[in-house]
Amino acid sequence: MDDPAAPTTTSVEVDSIIRRLSLLRSADGGAVDPEMAPLFPGYRFDTRLVAGITPIERGGPLDFQIFRPDGMRGWIVNLTVRGAGEIFDGEDRFRVETGDLVLFPPGAIHDYGRAGDADAWWHRWIYFQPRASWSTWLTWKEARGPLFVQRGGEARRLSELDRLFAEVAAWSVNNDLLSMELAMNDLERIVLLLARNDRSEVPAGRFDERLLMACKFVTDNLHRPLSVAEIAQKVCLSPSRLAHLFTQTLGRSILKWREEQMIQFACQLLLVSPSPIKQIAAQVGFEDPLYFSRVFRRYTGCSPRAFRSEHGRSHERGETWTVPPVRTVIPQPTASAYSRPRTTS
Ligand code: FCB
Repeated sequence: MDDPAAPTTTSVEVDSIIRRLSLLRSADGGAVDPEMAPLFPGYRFDTRLVAGITPIERGGPLDFQIFRPDGMRGWIVNLTVRGAGEIFDGEDRFRVETGDLVLFPPGAIHDYGRAGDADAWWHRWIYFQPRASWSTWLTWKEARGPLFVQRGGEARRLSELDRLFAEVAAWSVNNDLLSMELAMNDLERIVLLLARNDRSEVPAGRFDERLLMACKFVTDNLHRPLSVAEIAQKVCLSPSRLAHLFTQTLGRSILKWREEQMIQFACQLLLVSPSPIKQIAAQVGFEDPLYFSRVFRRYTGCSPRAFRSEHGRSHERGETWTVPPVRTVIPQPTASAYSRPRTTS
């Protein structure tokens, strides 16, 4: 099958990435281009939405295997826009070509790279924490181990998806809540289009509506203590049934999920609100600010104060927020727990 040319906007974007990557390489190791950081091992994806495009070219600086054996905390949706990639699902390898989409749930293995016989693999990706209401749409018919796959359709569909992926990336670099909401809005459209395209009625029993109600109840009441018993009563389940269903479907306990939502909310508030950290802790439901800082650090790798001082006020200094929330040193793309050199197969 011919590989349809990537949409023009994509090529322009990729040209600029390739230029920046060559600057990064020619600089003597110390150069940090924060916008390129997510493309390299060592970048810490936090609870926020992060999106980008990875233009892998044979022998180029990004031509290495992306390897995260324990997956990530959030979801990833991956769209091939040029060339071909090869993805390992934990048991088997499969190929993706232009227009194909792969959905990686949290914790699912990431082990992928350019297909050996392809000259390039350009893929767009979005790392995200879904809104509670999306849960039923995040399962597709074709499962590959823990991953879900949708095969490319007509060119129109690809260009619509390509545009939406690019928009999510563009909105998500801005440092204000409304931009983040717009990014989430575009992403919601992607999630809906894909769910519709998949035409899969969620198999009976796969996702219980009561779980959705439970998620909504939790997010509406983040600011106050909640017990599993109270949530269970609200959705007419026994506490043990709710706990079991939740963990079985979402891969973590309901209280853990609640904690993730609290930290995600805290990140947003720290970026836009000047309130003292103690107050933000209380606003997102932590009575004890010290405990809040501990949990916050566990998720993001830094304290709320450091997070805010590094990113939260950048707009007041007239800068655009392009730095990832958790700043990391960019190691060279060589062997690590995350990446490993390409092996010939
Ligand atoms: C980038 C990869 C991309 C995706 C994101 C989350 O480094 O190039 O495929 O995994 O990380």
